[in-house]
Order: sequence, then structure tokens, then C-alpha cells
Amino acid sequence: MLLSFVIWLQQTGLMRALRESDHGYETLLALHVSCIALFGATVVLTNLRLLGIAPEGYSVAEIVDQLRVPKRIGLLCIGTCGFLLFGMKAEEYYLNVFFRIKVTLFLLVAAHALVFRPSVYNAAADLEGAFGIPARAKVAAAISCVLWFGIVCAGRGIGYMHPPPFSHHFSQLQSFTHNPALAATVMYRENTNRSQMQSPQVLTVGTQKGTRNAD
Ligand code: HEM
Repeated sequence: MLLSFVIWLQQTGLMRALRESDHGYETLLALHVSCIALFGATVVLTNLRLLGIAPEGYSVAEIVDQLRVPKRIGLLCIGTCGFLLFGMKAEEYYLNVFFRIKVTLFLLVAAHALVFRPSVYNAAADLEGAFGIPARAKVAAAISCVLWFGIVCAGRGIGYMHPPPFSHHFSQLQSFTHNPALAATVMYRENTNRSQMQSPQVLTVGTQKGTRNAD
């Protein structure tokens, strides 16, 4: 069911066009990472303030409220680029263990928001009492740091996993090249040199010619 969906997604016109474009992958990945820098800064600042570490010149409410908009914009851009990156090779990412870890951590982030948003992030003005920042806010900040750190690590790990040889992409390559060893070599090269994923490498197999992204 989910697998059929991801195969359908990667075969839609938009994803196919992105996959076959010259610099779609590099551009989206660059935007994804740049927005992570923007978003990451807002998350780190908010959490450090909640933990009482820094920046001390601003109240908790000032930090939480003023960073809310840039944080949401950053997350929206990351999510959009991430979704498009995913759709380009959805089946391969679907089978990727680090992608699965990342999705699991996102679900935990959603649970974290459900638990702590009402009492911490939406109640920032009430957090600075005579007894300092309450423990629940510090716990929320610490868990948030761990989850986002895990998401960044899992995101970085995605690129280091080889797609399993039974994936749809591999089957396509295999039927295209009529040569399992060559298909495996192409997939290996795709994964060891991902920055060139979109370059139209031409394979010559006997009298057959084609690009790696042939669908
Ligand atoms: C705040 C949220 C996110 C963070 C912190 C994050 C983090 C990362 C990082 C660090 C990378 C590796 C970049 C690199 O190799 O240089 C990455 C890549 C990627 N992310 Fe995200 N990501 C986020 C959201 C998403 C979402 C929502 C999706 C999908 C729906 C997604 C899908 C991907 C994909 C497909 C890649 C490409 C991996 C590759 O081909 O190497 N990400 N992400």
C-alpha cells in the first residue's frame, strides 16, 4: 500500500521532471540544507534560552515569540524541499533505514509538540517566575535538542545507504541493461557519487544506449 504510493509518487510528472533535470537534486539539497541552518538556529536559540544557558539579555517570551515566524518559514522550506527530494526517488528512500529513522523522529517531534506546546512554548510569558525556569520547560528543551540532533544525523545518514538490489529502481536498471552486475554497479556508483546523480551518464551495453534515469 505505502510502497505502491511511493512508486506512484516518483512516477508523477513533477518528480520525473525533477529527476531528469540537470541540477534539480543538487539545488533542492542545497536549499534543504540552507533552510536547516535557518531553522536550526531558531531551535537552538529557543532551547538554550529555555535551559537558562543563553542568551540571557532576552526574556524567554521574547525569544520564543520572536523566533516563531522564522522557525515556521524555515520548517516549511525544509519540508517542501525534503518532500520533493523524497519524491524524486521515493522508493529508494522508502527502503532506506536512515530515512525511516528520520520519519520516526519526526513523529516523536509531533508527539513532543502535543505534550509541551500548551504548557511551554505557548505559555512562554509564564515561564520566568521567582523560582526560575520550571523543570518541564527544561525537559522540553532537552528532548527537543536530542530529537532535532537525531533528525540531522539521520538525514546525513540517508546518503550513505545503498538501495537494496530488489528495489524497483534496480529492477528498472536491470531490465534496461539486461545485466544484473551492470545494474548493481550503476546503483553503487549512484550511491557513492550522489552529487552527480542528475548528470546524464550514458550507458553503453552492447548496442543499447540510455541514461541511468530511464523509466
Ligand atoms: C527540520 C527537518 C529536517 C532536517 C533537520 C533534515 C535534515 C537533513 C539533512 C542533514 C540531510 C543531509 C543533507 C546532506 O547530505 O548534505 C537531509 C537530506 C534529505 N532529507 Fe531532510 N531534513 C528535514 C526534513 C525533511 C523532510 C520533511 C523530508 C521528506 C519529507 C526530508 C527528506 C530528505 C531527503 C530525501 C534527503 C536527501 C538524502 C540524500 O539523498 O542524501 N527531510 N535532510
